[in-house]
Amino acid sequence: MTDLARAVHDALNRTATSHTPEAAPPPHADGTRPLPAPGPLEPADLGATMGRRRSTYRFAHGSPSRAQLAALLHHGVGTAPRAGGLASITPYVVTRDGVRWADLRRPVPSLVTVRAGDPTEYVRQSIDQPPFADRVPTWIALVADLAPSRDRYPARHYRTVHLDAGAALQNVLLVAAALGLATCPVSGFDDRAWARLLDLHDDAFVAVLVAAGGAATPPSLQSRR
Ligand SMILES: Cc1cc2nc3c(=O)[nH]c(=O)nc-3n(C[C@H](O)[C@H](O)[C@H](O)COP(=O)(O)O)c2cc1C
Repeated sequence: MTDLARAVHDALNRTATSHTPEAAPPPHADGTRPLPAPGPLEPADLGATMGRRRSTYRFAHGSPSRAQLAALLHHGVGTAPRAGGLASITPYVVTRDGVRWADLRRPVPSLVTVRAGDPTEYVRQSIDQPPFADRVPTWIALVADLAPSRDRYPARHYRTVHLDAGAALQNVLLVAAALGLATCPVSGFDDRAWARLLDLHDDAFVAVLVAAGGAATPPSLQSRR
């Protein structure tokens, strides 16, 4: 990370709650699982889907299925626009059995294991709203990478990386809404703790988390917290 970006991050992080979780599950270097091809999204009125999207705090219906996860990653992150067409955003998936990153550029898009084991306790200690840890079965971390743009654009391009993450976030949320899945964007997390959990290199950071679950509970049946 450039000195300027590091100085900005350090200054901003001094304004946030700091968390220092203890042990993350152990690193795991050699697991790769192909992602299924995403199924078609049901043709639906886009405006109706956008109108149906809501953040939820209830994740009562398990995890998204593998096919649903593939749709969130391929249709959601994979189709989002990125400034300069650069590989600025990489999705990571954190579930009860480990941490993986989604390599969507391989001939066979795959989930690559980073850590194996249950990270729930670590997650609880690294977010501002600890009750999410037990409730949320699947986290999608949208990881921003400053490296692809560093030699091509001036430092001001830093801003477009966040816009790329926002575009991917909204895509993921709308795909989830189309599939009837529960989601909530989460920005209250400790940068350093999540960089450690995901084993990120120095130019990468988590832009935003998406808490994701199976079928969403209708808004009329859930409280906000
Ligand atoms: C970038 C972003 C970050 C957010 N971070 C959090 C968060 O840390 N915790 C939380 O409970 N909700 C978070 N939210 C959810 C918002 O509170 C929610 O989107 C807002 O209240 C509007 O509700 P709606 O999504 O149902 O339209 C976040 C939303 C966005 C877009």
